[in-house]
Amino acid sequence: MIDALWGWPPPVLDPAGPYSDKVTTLAWSLFGLGFAVTAIVAAALFVAIKGPPKWKAMLGGERAIWIGGVAFPGVVLTALLVWGLTLTASLTEPIRGDEMRIRVIGEMWWFRVQYLDPSGNIVMEDANEIHIPVGVPVVLELESADVIHSFWVPHLSGKKDMIPGRRTLLRIEADRAGEFGGVCAEYCGGQHALMGFVAVAHPPADYRAWQGTRMVRVASASTQANDALSQAAGTTTQKTDGRALFMQSGCAACHRVAGTEANGLAGPDLTHVGSRRSLGAGVLPNHLGTLIGWIGDSQSIKPGNRMPSYDKLAADELEAIARWLEQQK
Ligand code: CUA
Repeated sequence: MIDALWGWPPPVLDPAGPYSDKVTTLAWSLFGLGFAVTAIVAAALFVAIKGPPKWKAMLGGERAIWIGGVAFPGVVLTALLVWGLTLTASLTEPIRGDEMRIRVIGEMWWFRVQYLDPSGNIVMEDANEIHIPVGVPVVLELESADVIHSFWVPHLSGKKDMIPGRRTLLRIEADRAGEFGGVCAEYCGGQHALMGFVAVAHPPADYRAWQGTRMVRVASASTQANDALSQAAGTTTQKTDGRALFMQSGCAACHRVAGTEANGLAGPDLTHVGSRRSLGAGVLPNHLGTLIGWIGDSQSIKPGNRMPSYDKLAADELEAIARWLEQQK
């Protein structure tokens, strides 16, 4: 996930949507202008050293300083500022009311993701993954639960701070399908560098299918919970019952799995954890082995994260929990 940012061309210069396209236009203009200014300064330096005395005198005069040192940078920088703000204004436009909305909350050190309906109610929760349809502008409502983070998925848009107590807006849009890596771009503590996510852009039909399976999962989840409760009455827990172990070992106090008694809010929602691409916010690929490793010893993998290492659990217990979590898609 985080590795995905180190490809070539760098994602900032490889826009995959209209908003990032504007940022790239601005970036290239600044590179070009910077190059031109460097060339002018180098030429002036050359004249000052090797030029004819008349030119040297002109360069050293008061007029040259007013023009080259005050007027030129003043005009150029002001024009650039106005143009840059105008060009990128659409990235942070207020919500009109008919857009697709997703709330992303920065936490130390992962991203809470909430899909919203048009009136702002949460319809689905996830973490460290944002799924969007191709060709549809999406408004992200960015918040923070603790310190200042910064949301950045360079293929799709600009960078925007996530500030405690405030809600900032950022629009993203993809014009091609793909998986686009993102990171937290503001130092936020020890594991800032391991705070990644991925934005997955689906062709519209695939997106609807993806959304459909998720909704079915959320709807059927409550039935599962009732089944489980009736089963739980009077049965003793086996060492390999992943679900029961998850509920009894403390996991459920911090994690929610929709439709089960696990209702914790401190950590990432695990309702769809089995379908996520990564674990630990972009740190590990998601499969049974890494899931076991993460539960058993997340403190070695991402020191200081808020989940303790469950090294008190036996290997078969860790595996049972991981197998059950893998099924939560
Ligand atoms: Cu969150 Cu850096």
